[in-house]
Amino acid sequence: MIPTLETTLRMVSCGSLRKVDEGKTVKLAGWVARVRDHGGVLFVDLRDRYGKTQVVCDPAQEQVYSIAKNLRNEWVISVTGKVRLRPESSKNSNLDTGEIELLATELTVLNQSAVLPFQIEGTEEVNEDLRLKYRFLDLRRENLQEKLILRSNITHAVRDYFHRHQFIEVETPVLMKSTPEGARDFLVPSRVNPGKFFALPQSPQTYKQILMVSGFDRYFQIVKCFRDEDLRADRQPEFTQIDIEMAFIEQNDIQTIAEGLVVRLFKDIMGKDIQAPFLRMTYDEAINRYGSDKPDLRNPLVIQDVSLPVETGFKVFDSAVSEGKLVSGIRIPAPSILSRNTYDDLAERYKTAGLAGLILFRMGAQLDGPVVKFLNDETKNALVSQFGLSDGDTLLLSTGKGTKYKTILGNLRLELGKTLSLVDESAFRFHWVNDFPLLEWDEEEKRYIAMHHPFTSPQNDDIAKMGVDNDSIKAKAYDLVLNGNEIAGGSIRIYNPELQSKMFELIGIGAEEAREKFGFLLDAFKFGAPPHGGIAFGLDRLVMIMTGSQSIRDVIAFPKNSNAQSLMDNAPSEVSDKQMRELYIKSTFHPVK
Ligand code: AMO
Repeated sequence: MIPTLETTLRMVSCGSLRKVDEGKTVKLAGWVARVRDHGGVLFVDLRDRYGKTQVVCDPAQEQVYSIAKNLRNEWVISVTGKVRLRPESSKNSNLDTGEIELLATELTVLNQSAVLPFQIEGTEEVNEDLRLKYRFLDLRRENLQEKLILRSNITHAVRDYFHRHQFIEVETPVLMKSTPEGARDFLVPSRVNPGKFFALPQSPQTYKQILMVSGFDRYFQIVKCFRDEDLRADRQPEFTQIDIEMAFIEQNDIQTIAEGLVVRLFKDIMGKDIQAPFLRMTYDEAINRYGSDKPDLRNPLVIQDVSLPVETGFKVFDSAVSEGKLVSGIRIPAPSILSRNTYDDLAERYKTAGLAGLILFRMGAQLDGPVVKFLNDETKNALVSQFGLSDGDTLLLSTGKGTKYKTILGNLRLELGKTLSLVDESAFRFHWVNDFPLLEWDEEEKRYIAMHHPFTSPQNDDIAKMGVDNDSIKAKAYDLVLNGNEIAGGSIRIYNPELQSKMFELIGIGAEEAREKFGFLLDAFKFGAPPHGGIAFGLDRLVMIMTGSQSIRDVIAFPKNSNAQSLMDNAPSEVSDKQMRELYIKSTFHPVK
């Protein structure tokens, strides 16, 4: 049985009354959504988070009517009245309570509201900064309430799922030592330890590994993480992870648990059956075929590399091949048609973006296009057969090499998918990207950095390449991708102190620095660390996709704007000189006047 909402000030919610309640006397409380004057009788739509009830204020009830006349939107009232059926003509099938109304016999104003900066009801487009400033009002809107309720249902299901699988939830510190997830830290000065700082966790990475050493072989936590990085539609400086770590496992075990979670959430929350196991592809395949490490597989287009004859008749192809470049293309299958104008626009823009060129072919009875006249038959046949071209297809070709080249083609793939409406927006396509590189070269710092984080294990066969052929080392690292969004990332960890030290060395962290920064972890590894690994979901991103939201801000109760500010409470803000003195801090920032 659902527990009752009855309290001293109300008996039932504004969303609960039905036909069967006819004749009952009940007391409701909520916000005035709207008052309508129907020739003397006033209709008040009373709203709470459960729904709306139509309250009828009849002039015959003098006390009620005299108060109702002065009601304004968003005043808080309580009403006692009798439930009656609405006349057939005024039934509202869009409303759960649409068959009844409440004839008010008593009405009390519990609070008034100032003039609203924007309307709560209706579909008026409101500037986001204004919504964030008045977030308390914004959050009264049905659509945001639905999203937060769904988010709460998701976290409830997450906890249930992990408890059923014998995970325990452990809280880890928010004031901690800096962890290397690759972003800037938010720092907190310590008053009692002058000159010293805590960092807010970019993730609980080191703690969850320590928990494995301590023998908690299945850990999860729904946890706030903090990263001082440039914000985008899917990034917040403060966000929530579903963080997971397991011992005595291999990659497949983590992925199975993660898949189970997703299947459960989509079933429970959205009533959707998602098929597991999910497709697995390697990082190299993702970059080669889709030009992205988080390809959107709802888009059917792929990037294909072709091998052409040594002599093609066309200089561009011949010199590309002789320079070791790839000839790659995207086939646009009929009946999609790429108009000449769209092609011209794409060719120009993608050239600016860095493509050597974008060559157009159209397939009819035979291959056609501006450069076909140069190509020998062998080359034409190679293109037709390797791309599987048939009548009505379009082909866009380019040449180049490296990840940057593939990324540009990946962007073209995405744009073509959208422009030609090839993406099934209603689908949910999950897949894993495995075998990420262990390291990436940081041009700014002129050193290697860990692509995932420095605790990620290299693949067994690649350990010997460490320090010898760094670019080709693959890691036991994986991301879970949903519709082109990275919704989770994780890895199998290093649990051997020597290998960990070697990894630090490769990314330019010397023995002394490693001791100073992560001595506790290296120490822990000396005391019987089990094989372990984990993953973390971006909860906000997941909820964003599950609610069909365009922005991560719509699924966070109190988000920051794109300048990392909270417009409602004006954080961050200046602090008093006294506070600064107590923390031994002096600001060198002088605002331009
Ligand atoms: P990673 O850095 O890949 O892994 O983060 C895990 C997931 O968190 C989400 N995410 C974000 N969401 C919103 N705003 C942000 N600024 C943001 N940054 C990341 C993404 C991402 O997939 N400790 C490792 C996990 C592990 O190895 O177990 C980690 O944090 O959805």
